Amino acid sequence: MTKPISDETDPCLAQPAGGYPEYLALKRLLGLQIPRSATEGSDELLFILIHQISELWFKLVLHELDQAISDFDHDRLPAACKRLARCEVVFGQLSGVWQVLETMTPSDYRVFRRGLGQASGSQSFQFRAIEYALGYREPEWPASRIPSGVGGDLLTHWHTRPSVYDRFLAALIRAGYPIPADGPERASTAGDPRIREVLAGVYRNPEKHWEVYETAEKFMDFEEAIQLWRFRHVRAVERTIGDLPGTGGTSGVGFLEKTLDRRFFPEIREVRSSLYGDDDGR
Ligand code: HEM
Repeated sequence: MTKPISDETDPCLAQPAGGYPEYLALKRLLGLQIPRSATEGSDELLFILIHQISELWFKLVLHELDQAISDFDHDRLPAACKRLARCEVVFGQLSGVWQVLETMTPSDYRVFRRGLGQASGSQSFQFRAIEYALGYREPEWPASRIPSGVGGDLLTHWHTRPSVYDRFLAALIRAGYPIPADGPERASTAGDPRIREVLAGVYRNPEKHWEVYETAEKFMDFEEAIQLWRFRHVRAVERTIGDLPGTGGTSGVGFLEKTLDRRFFPEIREVRSSLYGDDDGR
């Protein structure tokens, strides 16, 4: 039986075996921030922590997307919705990091930037895996260039399996919606008009198709949360390095601005403009 601790004893000093620090591997976790710059008082600890916190949230998002896939595969749309809603809130939290990061001025960043070498967020394999999970695909999958180890395995895993959105569409097919079973036909970034038409039926009569309607809107909410995160990132980058190239070798702000328009669920976005007839769309 666990030994009771009197109210007069500070529980933090008692530290039972297998308690909070061990459960959370705090010793290891708090030893993982290793600044490269030796400059006293530099903001590098802030910079490292913000990236590590973001990576931990990315890990949760990937876990939730994995669960959402399982929910779709078992035709549990409300459960999948809950997962997508959580992903959206997590990206909302992630957008909050920019406020903290922007307390670091360009001069503060300059103190340790050189030490980053070529390290850049563009090498975040978890962020890219989230994009793959949602359906973004590299035009040409560079299988031979994928690094081995954790990052490469994760990228391969998410790039080679159907996306969360594909699983949603598969659940709709099983529910009897007339979605072509041979998969979406995509012309560049535009969606498949056959899928759009099915969704238009759902959006014209949401009460009748509530679960599908709600899930589609959750996809939309999540996509928007990612876009807002991207937007805040570009602005934070702009105020920190202006128009300099990034440490990862891209043009920096210009490169990131092009990603602002990256969308994942084309038919759900396009359905909004298919809801009106010729005479009531004005
Ligand atoms: C002052 C802080 C930051 C600066 C100056 C910065 C700068 C940049 C730049 C210039 C790029 C383009 C690639 C390159 O050439 O390096 C990039 C990409 C990226 N950064 Fe940041 N970044 C900052 C903070 C963050 C934070 C806190 C995260 C959170 C994980 C992050 C995640 C990413 C990701 C995921 C990409 C790839 C985006 C994509 O390919 O769509 N960055 N960053």
